[in-house]
Amino acid sequence: MDNEVAEIWDANADFWDAQMGEGNLTHRHLVAPAMERLLDLRKGEEVLDVACGNGQFARRLAGLGAHVLAVDLSEQMLAHAGARSAEFEGRVEYRRLDASNPASFQDLRSGGFSAVVCAMSLMDLRHLPPLARALPRLLGPGGRFVFSVTHPAFNGTGMRRILEEEDDGGTLVQRGGVFVYEYLTPKVALGLAIPGQPRPQLYFDRPLSELLRPFFEAGLALDALEEPRFPPEVVPTRPTSWIGVPEIPPVLVGRLRPVAGRRGGD
Ligand SMILES: C[S@@+](CC[C@H](N)C(=O)[O-])C[C@H]1O[C@@H](n2cnc3c(N)ncnc32)[C@H](O)[C@@H]1O
Repeated sequence: MDNEVAEIWDANADFWDAQMGEGNLTHRHLVAPAMERLLDLRKGEEVLDVACGNGQFARRLAGLGAHVLAVDLSEQMLAHAGARSAEFEGRVEYRRLDASNPASFQDLRSGGFSAVVCAMSLMDLRHLPPLARALPRLLGPGGRFVFSVTHPAFNGTGMRRILEEEDDGGTLVQRGGVFVYEYLTPKVALGLAIPGQPRPQLYFDRPLSELLRPFFEAGLALDALEEPRFPPEVVPTRPTSWIGVPEIPPVLVGRLRPVAGRRGGD
């Protein structure tokens, strides 16, 4: 088990669960709608939710008719997930699993899932190849892997959100943006997902090419990509909120599928 990462998320679990509930603004407006579009779920499908946190997305999918196995590294996150899921008995099962460890996926049934999802967590996984290599084996015919991630090009630890004010011929104009000063070299850095969280988390920042490389090498191909934006009626809660920079996407959502005839996986 990745104890360093597990300890951080255990320490953040109470705060995270209180903030996230059944989905915060980012999830409700960006992540969930885009992931659900790319998933195109059918009733009764078996879904594996990797790094499920407090289980909010797993419960959404169960509400849409899926049977979900939701896994996470943090026991405290899983405790919150279980506590919120009484009405989903038989439709969501939670289990502890380290997605950075290749051995973790061996016990899961070959072809057992119509879909695998990973919501806003690939940047939290220390190693991506174990998950990438497991996907071709775990996914049944027509299977897909749908992920969302902090946008590698705009929303990483090598970026700074800026707010500028300009006197434009007598009118004060404020403009938000992102100043990117590090991108290409993968790095591990502490950062905050939600302001006020008790412990900064470890981010494993990768440029887009490195984020997708393990999946391509495992024999998957990208067949859909979205950069969702907040609808205009959602108002910023802080001056540097992502909601105030509608032309810059904070989240990237994608779909990968095993390519028929291409060898990959484990
Ligand atoms: C940002 S939270 C996202 C939770 C959830 N997917 C959501 O969207 O609400 C990241 C989660 O990744 C989990 N995590 C980090 N490393 C992991 C690993 N190696 N295996 C499984 N889960 C991991 C953490 O415990 C945490 O619950």
